[in-house]
Amino acid sequence: MTRLIDLPAWRVLRDHQSRIASLHLRDLFAAEPDRGARLAAQAAGLYVDYSKHRLTAETLRLLLELARERELERWRDRMFAGEAINVSEGRSARHVALRSATPPQEVGAALARMRALVDRAHRGNLRGVNGRTVRTVVNLGIGGSDLGPRLATRALRALELGRVATRFVTNVDPADLDAALDGLDPETTFFIVASKTFTTAETLDNARRARAWLARALGDPPDLLANFIAVTGNPDAARAWGIAAERILPIWDWVGGRYSLWSAIGLPIAFAIGMDAFDRLRDGARAMDEHFRTAPLESNLPTLLALIDIWYGDFFGAQSRAVLPYAEDLRDLPPYLQQLEMESNGKWVDRDGRPVGCATAPVVWGAAGTNGQHAFHQLLHQGTLLVPCDFVVPAQASAGADREAHRLLVANALAQSAALAFGKDEPAAPHRHYRGNQPSTSIVLPRLDPHALGALLALYEHKVFVQGVVWGINSFDQWGVELGKARAKALVPALAGEASAGLDSSTRALVARIRGTRAAD
Ligand code: F6P
Repeated sequence: MTRLIDLPAWRVLRDHQSRIASLHLRDLFAAEPDRGARLAAQAAGLYVDYSKHRLTAETLRLLLELARERELERWRDRMFAGEAINVSEGRSARHVALRSATPPQEVGAALARMRALVDRAHRGNLRGVNGRTVRTVVNLGIGGSDLGPRLATRALRALELGRVATRFVTNVDPADLDAALDGLDPETTFFIVASKTFTTAETLDNARRARAWLARALGDPPDLLANFIAVTGNPDAARAWGIAAERILPIWDWVGGRYSLWSAIGLPIAFAIGMDAFDRLRDGARAMDEHFRTAPLESNLPTLLALIDIWYGDFFGAQSRAVLPYAEDLRDLPPYLQQLEMESNGKWVDRDGRPVGCATAPVVWGAAGTNGQHAFHQLLHQGTLLVPCDFVVPAQASAGADREAHRLLVANALAQSAALAFGKDEPAAPHRHYRGNQPSTSIVLPRLDPHALGALLALYEHKVFVQGVVWGINSFDQWGVELGKARAKALVPALAGEASAGLDSSTRALVARIRGTRAAD
């Protein structure tokens, strides 16, 4: 594979960037009266306005040429065909099969089991210790086994059926589990141990503490573990831990953790809103899959958003992108995208093990609007950094929400993207001057419902895939997380006072300090 930065298309883009870098969005809009409506596209019910970007028709043509040189269409087809594109682990990346209209047999069977479990719970027939009916489900998971279900459950809160409450625990810090358990009745609380590998230290430690909490309250009855469900690709380990086979739901090695909310990892979502609504989430993702698979690259939303991100990161030197959902219920979108984008594409070598030679994933950050406006938007408006932004805006208020308040929310989103783009000249008062030229994409959802959310998340999934293809990296492994895990494991004995040989002097001093503080407590 030719290195990206050695491609003629890359050099042409560099030259092009130096010619248009000084163009202001004001100039681009003045020169093209219909720019706002023209540089927009729709798919799967989403409307995406990408007009407020510092690019011309020529920029888009060159970026698309680059994508074609990287054989994007061939890679896309390989992903949909289930080829082993995750080369470092010899696996396919078939998350699209999880939302297919004709899913593989094993997926269909797992979805049917999910439905049976959820329906039973909603009918009041899912019973645990002492025959009591489940009232609350606590999801114990981390990374992809937490972020997607957490995001979707919160985002679709308006559709909650109210039969089973959901809580999420992710941090190994005991404060997380302790806070989640506060006020719960042990007999009616179920735990989902959500771990693809069933080896993740944080999740297993929380499961151990959850079991101890039940045992403390209920005196260790023989059916104590009746309150546990596992979702895992390692059923032997779940069984060995004590979870009954009929309470173990599968996930497969061809689903990456951060792409797994469409599988039984999404169980908390289904407990909250029911399996029919969960299916509508999958439908929305499938509609976006179809768009990504079939739309010409020129109007292919994941492709356009991916290339625009690359344009800023690799040609303008932007190091971050802000994600600004104008919906309180989408407040977990930034952390979800942090894992999706940064764990997938935060890599320095290509699939052949050579340095990529250019910037890969930017830092993704952000918060729900309007909150961020009163915190970090000052930097976006008058700071010194180029920070492209994604505005995510549900057009309609959720059922039952105050429409006037929603109108105010949307007005703020539109006002921010326009103010960032066009600025305001105040030559006499520099502190009041707004440079503008801060680019953004606006993604408009009809409303925050399962279909739109599914389409939105699949849009980002495929965007990440396109970027990986252009950079030539494997977006589906995450070797960078392993070193820290191993080191943490090795440090536990040192913190417990065992010999700390082999530690660097900084870590040794920190261990001594922390141990000394404990002694003084
Ligand atoms: O440590 C990173 C990671 O492997 C993520 O990719 C994954 O989503 C998370 O940990 C949780 O893994 P598991 O589901 O196996 O517990």
